[in-house]
Amino acid sequence: MKVLVTGASRGLGAALVERYLFNGAQVWGVGRSSAPARVPDGKRFIYTQCDVRDADSIRMTVRDMTETGFIPDIAVFNAGAPTKDAADSFRFQSFRENFETNLFGAVIWVEEFLPHFMKRGSGVFAAVSSQSVFRENHKDVVGYSASKLALTKAFENLRLQYLPTGVRFVTFHPGRMSKVRNSVIGTTYSNAARIICVNTLAASPRPVVNFPALQYYMTRVLRFVPDAVFHRFIFR
Ligand SMILES: NC(=O)c1ccc[n+]([C@@H]2O[C@H](COP(=O)([O-])OP(=O)(O)OC[C@H]3O[C@@H](n4cnc5c(N)ncnc54)[C@H](OP(=O)(O)O)[C@@H]3O)[C@@H](O)[C@H]2O)c1
Repeated sequence: MKVLVTGASRGLGAALVERYLFNGAQVWGVGRSSAPARVPDGKRFIYTQCDVRDADSIRMTVRDMTETGFIPDIAVFNAGAPTKDAADSFRFQSFRENFETNLFGAVIWVEEFLPHFMKRGSGVFAAVSSQSVFRENHKDVVGYSASKLALTKAFENLRLQYLPTGVRFVTFHPGRMSKVRNSVIGTTYSNAARIICVNTLAASPRPVVNFPALQYYMTRVLRFVPDAVFHRFIFR
């Protein structure tokens, strides 16, 4: 089992690397900074410094992967960040950056690996989206949830388009995550990594997974709260 994890240097990505290695997979991690500290060097983990906004850098990474025979069975597009684009006035360049990282920085890999997956008739592409697609929860950031919603929608469309080929497209909508669980609604990176790993390794992965459940149901209910009330009491 070969797994690609983007955004592998820290946070959820580093936890995913650990989890897939624990399950016996070979893992290729990608991030801009250096490799995660807790992962031991070894034959089963390779790490490349690569900015997912840089198409040339991605193509070089894909070339390195294919030359060494590393065609992933599972590709998890986890690299992502909320870039502030509306702190004072609205900044289009920062808005665009949200899309470059969170949307294009994921789907560009699909173009590279889909032909291999289709030839094989199997493989899982996994997108790490966000529960903010159901109700915004980032102040001063307009483009983050918009880019994640576009990612969710792109994966839904890819799933339908390629359903007969055996290639699977799955989307995860995590709520708040952190190293240590610090609120009643959130979860830890290691629990999130476990959920993602179990679903992507399943014989029939669920197409959309929302977690943690409590935050998911609360977020869905918040959709019905009028904007004026939401802004006054919740959006901070
Ligand atoms: N934390 C949450 O509460 C939460 C909730 C919902 C969804 N999410 C989503 O879950 C994913 C992981 O979140 P996290 O909390 O683990 O975030 P994090 O701790 O900030 O880590 C983000 C990872 O993405 C990488 N990354 C960011 N921009 C990149 C770029 N341009 N090129 C390559 N790598 C890049 C970072 O590596 P470098 O900085 O080394 O490049 C890092 O490894 C993200 O997609 C995030 O949007 C997070």
